[in-house]
Amino acid sequence: MSSANTTPTPIPGSAAPSGITASASHLGADPKITRRLTRVKHIILVLSGKGGVGKSSVSAQLALSLSSQPPPEGSTSNSTNGKAKVGILDIDLTGPSIPRMLGLDGENVRQSSDGWVPVFTDAQQNLAVMSVGFLLRSKNDSVVWRGPKKNAMIKQFLGDVRWGDLDYLIIDTPPGTSDEHISALEYLNGFHPSAVMVTTPQAVSLADNLRSLDFTRKTGLPVLGLIENMSGYMCPHCQECTNVWGKGGGEALAQREGIRFLGRIPIDPGLVRLLDDAREEAVRKEAGEVTKASDDSSNPRIEGEDQEGAKEGRAAKKEEEEDVSATIPTATTGTALSRTTVQRYFDSQTFPIFQSITEKIKEEVERFKQQLQAPR
Ligand SMILES: Nc1ncnc2c1ncn2[C@@H]1O[C@H](COP(=O)(O)OP(=O)(O)OP(=O)(O)O)[C@@H](O)[C@H]1O
Ligand SMILES: [Mg+2]
Repeated sequence: MSSANTTPTPIPGSAAPSGITASASHLGADPKITRRLTRVKHIILVLSGKGGVGKSSVSAQLALSLSSQPPPEGSTSNSTNGKAKVGILDIDLTGPSIPRMLGLDGENVRQSSDGWVPVFTDAQQNLAVMSVGFLLRSKNDSVVWRGPKKNAMIKQFLGDVRWGDLDYLIIDTPPGTSDEHISALEYLNGFHPSAVMVTTPQAVSLADNLRSLDFTRKTGLPVLGLIENMSGYMCPHCQECTNVWGKGGGEALAQREGIRFLGRIPIDPGLVRLLDDAREEAVRKEAGEVTKASDDSSNPRIEGEDQEGAKEGRAAKKEEEEDVSATIPTATTGTALSRTTVQRYFDSQTFPIFQSITEKIKEEVERFKQQLQAPR
């Protein structure tokens, strides 16, 4: 184990004020967001400088893993089954993948008198999910997002979703440092978010992560640690590990940058099948497990093609706070049961590895909160 794993150094960024300066400072505390987020104990963003390295799969695994464990000390989530209450918010607006990874493709967000009801993965409602993927008519629909529209969507996700009392809110982000990150961090200012970084062992991913680290420093976003994903391939027959893209670069980067190395996840073909399995929905529907909503059931929707918006270009800037929740009533669900995805995940080869990563993240997030409370 490296010294980066054990030395109780301050969480990088925890001494700096949480929030972002300059460009997006016109945003700020929103009463609706405050009402929702004061009920969330820990907010964790999953970041990486590069696309396709596993942010969404790490977000999904972290949410599943946390929601399978007891709530943190001092929890106010009133969990009835002894497991933590977790939310996962997918702010990858142009490439949402969380619904698919959790076997929730085709589910709908429901409108209630107190805001949007997220989709739940389980009957006990321990894991709540919100993604723009639930708002599209078809998963193949595209939406052309201008910066202000992205901003408005993220504001709605944070302020209009009935998250309830959560122990953890995990936020899956797009690659790099873009409008989505800036908007999210601005709205989360004051709610003490922290970040987990994901890299693969390739030099290009490590270099891109350095840029993301620079972003976290500039914005005062504390980094809980770094995960090296797709770190070698373990042959299921002979157990020999092939370092397809090298190995250890993530740990070296973490050590060099003074952040905790959280662990490495090997390439697991079983995980790909699990997370990319589109047949899941059909299986669930066939089993008749999907529940029907009984109360007000208008489903928020975004029109698939925002061609008009694309043409409007810069003139559209004044629409900064526009409401993107055009509603088209259809009678469907707010709660889904996808026990098979979750159960299959618990049985996967990666699950025990991720449990140990989750333990470290929990330690770091508690340490960060303690540092915040310590007298300066
Ligand atoms: N450890 C792993 N072993 C095998 N496959 C993996 C592993 N981690 C992720 N994958 C697969 O790699 C692909 C990319 O992962 P994922 O979508 O999580 O990356 P991402 O960083 O979120 O991508 P994007 O930048 O496009 O949002 C997915 O098909 C996922 O199932
Ligand atoms: Mg992703």
